[in-house]
Amino acid sequence: MISRIIQVDPFDLIVFGATGDLSARKLLPALFQRDVAGQIPESSRVIGASRKPMSDADFRAFAKSAIEEHVPDKERTPESVEHFIQRLAYVAVDAMSDGGWSDLKALIEKARGHIRVYYLATGPDLFGPICDRLSSLGLVDDTARVIVEKPLGKDLESAREVNDLIGKAFPETRIFRIDHYLGKETVQNLMALRFANALFEPLWNAGHIDHVQITVAETLGVGGRVGYYDTAGALRDMAQNHLLQLLCLVAMEPPTSMAADAVRDEKLKVLQSLAPIRGEQAAQLTVRGQYRAGAAEGGAVKGYLDELGDASSRTETFVAIKAQIANWRWAGVPFYLRTGKRLATRVSEIVVGFRPIPHSMFDGSAGPLSPNQLVIRLQPNEGVRLWLMIKDPGPGGMRLRRIPLDMTFAEAFHTRNPDAYERLLMDVVRGNQTLFMRRDEVEAAWSWIDPIQEAWKANEEPPKPYASGTSGPSAAIALIERDGRTWHEDEPV
Ligand code: BG6
Repeated sequence: MISRIIQVDPFDLIVFGATGDLSARKLLPALFQRDVAGQIPESSRVIGASRKPMSDADFRAFAKSAIEEHVPDKERTPESVEHFIQRLAYVAVDAMSDGGWSDLKALIEKARGHIRVYYLATGPDLFGPICDRLSSLGLVDDTARVIVEKPLGKDLESAREVNDLIGKAFPETRIFRIDHYLGKETVQNLMALRFANALFEPLWNAGHIDHVQITVAETLGVGGRVGYYDTAGALRDMAQNHLLQLLCLVAMEPPTSMAADAVRDEKLKVLQSLAPIRGEQAAQLTVRGQYRAGAAEGGAVKGYLDELGDASSRTETFVAIKAQIANWRWAGVPFYLRTGKRLATRVSEIVVGFRPIPHSMFDGSAGPLSPNQLVIRLQPNEGVRLWLMIKDPGPGGMRLRRIPLDMTFAEAFHTRNPDAYERLLMDVVRGNQTLFMRRDEVEAAWSWIDPIQEAWKANEEPPKPYASGTSGPSAAIALIERDGRTWHEDEPV
């Protein structure tokens, strides 16, 4: 089936923090792609706002170079870039004072009947003040939506505070808490795989599944984000949101529909069923690591502490967790989660390991029998592989072999995989919250993360060092191998 473009209603997207990294790397390129696809109505505008004094022309030049850097050559022409940047305007605004707000108001109010979308691509300390201003200036009408980026707090208490502040200006139905992992094509496919096929669901439980692995490995270091990162660490930056959201989609009960609350109710139940990891258990069930110097991205790279310039930091750049979901479906099935920076390869995947067959009728000459595995690859090379046992073709007796049923999407469909932000931004304009986190979900995730954070704090041990370009600290390998299992490694077919 050919992909469809459904035009959205006319909107204005006002980006606070418009000159920052997220705007340049993700938001402007995503909007550009949607413009090229013909999804954005002609009258829609993108209004950049940040403290930096800049003219419209400067902002357009900034957007042009961001698009040239982040959109592949073959996906743009000088005309398409020019068409897009004509939508852009810029206002210098100070979130903490009156500066610029009346200009912003005048500009926003120029358009009649446009849906207003406010994207807060700023630090969370500005979420409250910006929402407050928007509301007191009468800029939050019945259609206005707000998008907030993580980190939403650093623990449950601060998350509640931020949520309260946003909630004063916007109702929950118009707050879009973005977790861009939910917009990834293969994550959507996980829902299709589970709920549009009769094959998996009867097996999707502790009776047939031995364990689940969720890995998000990056080769990049923290680079220019070290200031933010040192206040967060891998647990808050990746596990509290991306890893737990993926876990929810694997583990949730079938929702009755794709309606936002139907899906989010089920995800919430999973988060609430996570067995707490407290005190001493944290040493058994979690591993935290920190990268040292090593080799990555084709050259020698510095260690985290050198990048930071502070040898005393205990911030983890790697985390592995053995999680358990205490409910009927998943009792006794470990969910091994891991994520880290400066690892050997960039790979994000979910591996569902099925139980071995109960009895083998084959003798030893058939070769070893491997349990089935479903590997859902989020990136790179998005696709799904179902590993099965077959008979090795040709004569020579009954010889068994493990092969994958392979659905690598790029090969199968020859289509461009849209970036998560493209889908998510259009969902906000459409008012569809299915792929956004509800307040109670975010808070339930923090409730599970907080005790781990506290246990680490109470423990004197620093994070385990690992050399850049490796697969993380050896303790993370021990975490799964102690249970007689191994981390999945991609294998040539
Ligand atoms: C972000 C984290 O949410 O996700 C980053 O803050 C991380 O630290 C990034 O690098 C990974 O996203 P992706 O889409 O490149 O896997």
